Amino acid sequence: MKKNILTLLDLTKNDFENLFQRASELKKRYQKGILDQPLVGKSLALIFEKPSTRTRVSFETAMIQLGGSPIFISAKDTQIVRNEPVRDTARVLSRYIDAVAIRTFSQDLLRGFAEFSDIPVINALTDLYHPCQVLSDLLTIIECKGGYHNQKIAWVGDGNNVAHSWINAAAVVGLDLTLACPKGYEPNREIMEKALSLNSGKIKVTNDPLEAVNGADIVYTDVWASMGQEREQTIRKDVFGPFQINTDLIREASDDAIVMHCLPAHRGEEISEDVLEGPQSVVWDQAENKMHMHKAILEVLITGFNKEK
Ligand code: CP
Ligand code: NVA
Repeated sequence: MKKNILTLLDLTKNDFENLFQRASELKKRYQKGILDQPLVGKSLALIFEKPSTRTRVSFETAMIQLGGSPIFISAKDTQIVRNEPVRDTARVLSRYIDAVAIRTFSQDLLRGFAEFSDIPVINALTDLYHPCQVLSDLLTIIECKGGYHNQKIAWVGDGNNVAHSWINAAAVVGLDLTLACPKGYEPNREIMEKALSLNSGKIKVTNDPLEAVNGADIVYTDVWASMGQEREQTIRKDVFGPFQINTDLIREASDDAIVMHCLPAHRGEEISEDVLEGPQSVVWDQAENKMHMHKAILEVLITGFNKEK
């Protein structure tokens, strides 16, 4: 049966674990020069309405390495901008393509597409979620820390799309996650309530970055103004000042804490240059792991979730 990844709540704990296991296996085999091409003859459409460096290129190379073909489609070059209904685009692409990754503003648009699509739909970032980012970040945590259980994760900054996917992940696999956000910039209440109702993680929101980072094993941040919020940039710079990840704040974390950022980073805003480039930063490994995780995601979605490997 077709499966989508619109949010991380579309996956079970078992799905997460299979993806980590397969991504890390594919990564090791790739590093040894072994070619795995289960997707020969398959194609992935990437429909993007917002800019992207990592997600686009890592999905494209993932598809190429697996023997398939990516087709990048800038949304502005499609008939969607001339008001062709999304449900029509979904039905037409389903006749040509084997999976689609969409980066857009509205989660509702993504849901609408998925409803009319016969092929798997992958959320490549919306205003509300960035699920594949958090899957690959968890792979990085597994590599750096040997696992994600008993790791204290501190999110410092905006309660944004990446934060929401962390909250979902915490609910599915059970994470110890504290989010420190300025007042008024906390995560979406419904997303929090849903996660708390699933009752598997230890999820907390505070307005105090010191409280979140104290003793943390993982300190994570993201831009203060996400794509689409450019007009709020100036006001956000004032509000978010005390939430910068810098050496003073990192001192509160555990000695072997790692620092994570999904990138792109704004040095001197959400993270200081010395911390981003410092020994605790794992941001380049995070960026690399997007490709390995995307390979596992594409393989499982296109060849079937329940198929034995
Ligand atoms: N982290 C991430 O999604 O980066 P891009 O916006 O470059 O895809
Ligand atoms: N929160 C950021 C993530 C970029 C990968 C944004 O949406 O712009």
